[in-house]
Amino acid sequence: MEIITTPSEMQRWSRAHRSGAGRVGFVPTMGALHEGHLHLMRTAREHASAVAASIFVNPLQFNRRDDFDTYPRPMDDDLALCESVGIDAVYAPTAATMYPEGFETHVEPGSLGDPMEGAMRPGHFRGVTTVVTKLFNAVQPDVALFGQKDYQQLAVIRRMTIDLDMGIEIIGVPTVREPDGLALSSRNRRLTPEDRAAAVAVPVALTAALRAYRAGEASGRTLEQCATEILAAEPRARVEYVQVFDANTLVSIDRVDRPSVIAAAVWFGDVRLIDNMLLD
Ligand code: PAJ
Repeated sequence: MEIITTPSEMQRWSRAHRSGAGRVGFVPTMGALHEGHLHLMRTAREHASAVAASIFVNPLQFNRRDDFDTYPRPMDDDLALCESVGIDAVYAPTAATMYPEGFETHVEPGSLGDPMEGAMRPGHFRGVTTVVTKLFNAVQPDVALFGQKDYQQLAVIRRMTIDLDMGIEIIGVPTVREPDGLALSSRNRRLTPEDRAAAVAVPVALTAALRAYRAGEASGRTLEQCATEILAAEPRARVEYVQVFDANTLVSIDRVDRPSVIAAAVWFGDVRLIDNMLLD
């Protein structure tokens, strides 16, 4: 496994692997790797002959300084995990390499970046689209994989690759969960044991809404209320939003009569968790 730290070296690696029939797969991450990330990496292998992963905690997409400062960075463990799933190259640039003095060009997402995470975390998606564009330009993948766990991010990235003619296939991968249903997240390791136990309320609430939908409830507001009431019964949980929206436009909807999603953002102590489920 090669460890690469500059865009020019990364481009060289990619060019070498794309010559002939080679297909480069790419999994961007911020590290603190868990089974969700590893699942993306293993899936990438099914779509590509060489797979690169990136590890970069992107300062541009954090709207809270403390969240950026406390984001876990276990680089040695992460490299070992990448190696264990057969990653061919890890791209791990420094912040100074990514954003040297004088850096001033950004990629602006459209309306898909406005609701939910975009509304609650101003500038977040502009940071994501900008860094993912830079990572794509360094790695030059044929195919890139993103988790449905960050549903809105996946939608914003899909739109960006189409709008900017990037010619990269984007694959969305289902959310990997703990046995009790909690979606795996790098932020879970910052939960206290009490908050970790309480956090199961998030998948429980979303599953209850999904069940209600399957039992015939089609009102977006009623489904949101169903999930909100379960979260409200957990004293350690502070709900930021629970929203039912159109799976394609991400616009909040009153009637679930098309592919839709229910998503939530919930605080436990100073840790903010997000999760979502498709209403299918
Ligand atoms: P990060 O949070 O490290 O996530 C990297 C990728 O792993 C994302 O595509 C995310 O959706 C996916 N992922 C996280 N938890 C998952 C789970 N439980 N199951 C399946 N996939 C999961 O998302 C980012 O980093 C950054 O915004 C990034 C795209 C790297 C840009 O900085």
